[in-house]
Amino acid sequence: MHAAKPGSDSPVRGVAVRRARPARRLRHRAAPTLLLMGLALAGAAPARAQVAAQASPMTRPQGAPLTGAQIYRAACANCHGVDGRGSSFSVVGFREPVVPDLADCRATTPETNRQWSAVDHKGGPARGFSARMPAFGSALSDDEIRRVIEYIRGFCGDRRWPRGELNLPRPFFTEKAYPENEVVLDGAYVHRRPRALDQTLFYERRIGTLGQIELLVPFGAHERTNDLGAPARRWTGVRLGDVAVAYKRVLFHSLRGGTILSAAGEAAFPTGDTREGFGVGTTVVEPAVLFGQLLPWDAFLQAQGAVGLSMNRSKAPHEAVWRAVLGKTWIPVRFGREWSPMVEVQGVRELVEGGVTEWDIVPQLQVTLSRRQHVRGLLGYRVPVERGTERSREFLAYVLWDWFDGGLFQGW
Ligand code: HEC
Repeated sequence: MHAAKPGSDSPVRGVAVRRARPARRLRHRAAPTLLLMGLALAGAAPARAQVAAQASPMTRPQGAPLTGAQIYRAACANCHGVDGRGSSFSVVGFREPVVPDLADCRATTPETNRQWSAVDHKGGPARGFSARMPAFGSALSDDEIRRVIEYIRGFCGDRRWPRGELNLPRPFFTEKAYPENEVVLDGAYVHRRPRALDQTLFYERRIGTLGQIELLVPFGAHERTNDLGAPARRWTGVRLGDVAVAYKRVLFHSLRGGTILSAAGEAAFPTGDTREGFGVGTTVVEPAVLFGQLLPWDAFLQAQGAVGLSMNRSKAPHEAVWRAVLGKTWIPVRFGREWSPMVEVQGVRELVEGGVTEWDIVPQLQVTLSRRQHVRGLLGYRVPVERGTERSREFLAYVLWDWFDGGLFQGW
């Protein structure tokens, strides 16, 4: 519960969170021989026959499909190393980019198979990486690429890391269950008088295998009202809202079941100027449960339940909040941009005698902006369901940057 939004009588706004991965920082392994160098070069122009010929005939009965391991050793190991940790400069013959460490769980588990499939089919540039990562789309069949990706997955043998497939598109209000390394700047604009712009800057960082910490800094500017409550056409300057810190931890995740469940706790401190309508004037502690579920046809469901516990109930009441969002990801062009339309519903209820629940419906659309898909944008609109005349509608937007995946201006 941070910067009170005028128009949203309920300032509760959950912890937020995003996805992650570390720069492709990889340990070189001083490795092998000059002989392999030839193979590395061959790897840049692979052909199905070549891949097949390199796979040991001993292990491949005539006509039997190549296993993921065979394809990997024949087509990928020159550069990526037999153990996935990357071959050294003396083998690959280039220093930049560094060949990624496919055995680094922190870096590989957040990547989806879909993402890797794009890189394997179309080469590094398909995702804003270097063309040193060759395209195999004409050398390997879809099925072979699927098998080799499955094989690479084995390099991170630690199943405690939640997989990137469970990292669903971030809705505007509902907090995600997946832990992220992200920076997000969002904004909500009340377009009816008195107008208001409220923004929040989120910084999220993964801690260990399952955890994430977060800092939220809300700020904004509101149109002032006169003594009668009418818009005065003068604005406050940019003011700080209630700054918050949060921690989140994954409790359960299963790629097979498509399910992820997390618990989170947030504390928002009274740093806002309540006289000007920023913040609630007391510390609010908000425990929450977060849930994500993959559905057939690239659809998904996410839900959040939270209670905002006010440390001073004369300033702000306790509140209960529940949110759910249903969406689906479309990729109109194969390996291209991802479009994720979503509809979010949220209910907020002040825990006081005779408290009513206020409902909002929030249609929204998220789209990947960068080729690497580590920068995404969202546009939405919040429509209060009840008391619609008293509470204002808002335009919503955010820009999200998964900083672990590369610089803001890299990968376009
Ligand atoms: C000629 C060397 C070379 C060969 C052969 C090669 N790769 Fe790569 N690969 C690279 C380099 C270099 C990168 C990193 C590109 C960058 O970071 O800009 C990379 C990146 C990748 C990535 C992206 C990892 C990430 O961080 O998301 C995947 C997945 C991958 N390679 C899979 C494969 C597979 C599968 C094969 C074999 C079918 C293969 N590569 C063959 C050089 C190679």
